[in-house]
Amino acid sequence: MDEKKRMLSGIQPSGELTLGSYMGAIKNWAERADEFDCYYFMADMHTLTVRQNPADLRRRTVEQLAQYIACGLDPEKNTLFIQSHVPQHAQLAWILDCYTMFGELSRMTQFKSKSVHHEDNINAGLFTYPCLMAADILLYQAHYVPVGEDQKQHCELTRDIALRFNGIYGDVFTVPDPYIAKVGARVMSLTSPENKMSKSDKDPNGCVYLMDPPEVIARKFKRAVTDSEMCVRYDPENKPGISNLIQIYACATGKDYDAVEQEFAGQGYGVFKTAVGDAVVELCRPIREEANRLLADKAYLESVYRAGADKASYIANRTLRKVYKKVGFVQK
Ligand code: TYM
Repeated sequence: MDEKKRMLSGIQPSGELTLGSYMGAIKNWAERADEFDCYYFMADMHTLTVRQNPADLRRRTVEQLAQYIACGLDPEKNTLFIQSHVPQHAQLAWILDCYTMFGELSRMTQFKSKSVHHEDNINAGLFTYPCLMAADILLYQAHYVPVGEDQKQHCELTRDIALRFNGIYGDVFTVPDPYIAKVGARVMSLTSPENKMSKSDKDPNGCVYLMDPPEVIARKFKRAVTDSEMCVRYDPENKPGISNLIQIYACATGKDYDAVEQEFAGQGYGVFKTAVGDAVVELCRPIREEANRLLADKAYLESVYRAGADKASYIANRTLRKVYKKVGFVQK
């Protein structure tokens, strides 16, 4: 019997993978494959809460898998799958919808902000999205959910749903904990550092994509917004731009904030911005090259997501059968 605790997370293939999702999430996944029993998926069902172009969604889902592997997620050690290949996600989500309160969902900050950005399409899925996310997590009895800071509220709601369900029916679900990195949990936009770096950013210079070519990455960092103090010092409140660059540099190089401040003491922002850009170029280069190599081998990628779906379905089905029995559905 496997003694390892389980870790699970997912990313929506609603855009290209960003440096934010790498530093906030994937980096932490890749470093823990030996310690945990790991499940990572492409959250394609979640993307439908916002209109998608079908051909783009299909392409990005497979590209995202190639990028996961290129970021160091070895398919032999991590179960990598596509959410829509495991129908139990939707099946459990319906049940959890019935154990989640309207008021709880109304308080989700992501729902509030997405409702503002997509005023013409405030669909029911956007509202109940956290129940699908809870189903993603609870189906696998995951202990830890490695995510960036912005997903903490959804993880907390997942805990509340699990505790409520367990309170009624006994110990059905493992109550999961979010797993949030100390550095990189909230990477900000390079051009408006008071906002999170996001794949849906309208300003192409604010967001760095893992697949951006080196010259594009370097240019984005050269243009990054700073301040007029000319001192490389970590102070997110008063110096959001520079503090964000310090965070990115620290995350890319493994140095701590003090060491970064010392390294650039007395030097201008130009030198610092170039150094951060170079560090990110070197971080992304092997990922981009490996992802492109993998993308040329569609048969291999298909074999990975098929095997991943088989393994994930087995566990998901076990949990769903237990839930069906508990709520009173007739067993077939
Ligand atoms: P998504 O697709 O928006 O983001 C994917 C992951 O990347 C993290 N992230 C960031 N971290 C630091 N700085 C940033 N600027 C940044 N931008 C994104 C996110 O916190 C997330 O960890 N609902 C989820 C996807 C999901 C999921 C799940 C996650 C669906 N089901 C089950 C965990 C478990 C989402 O929209 O993430």
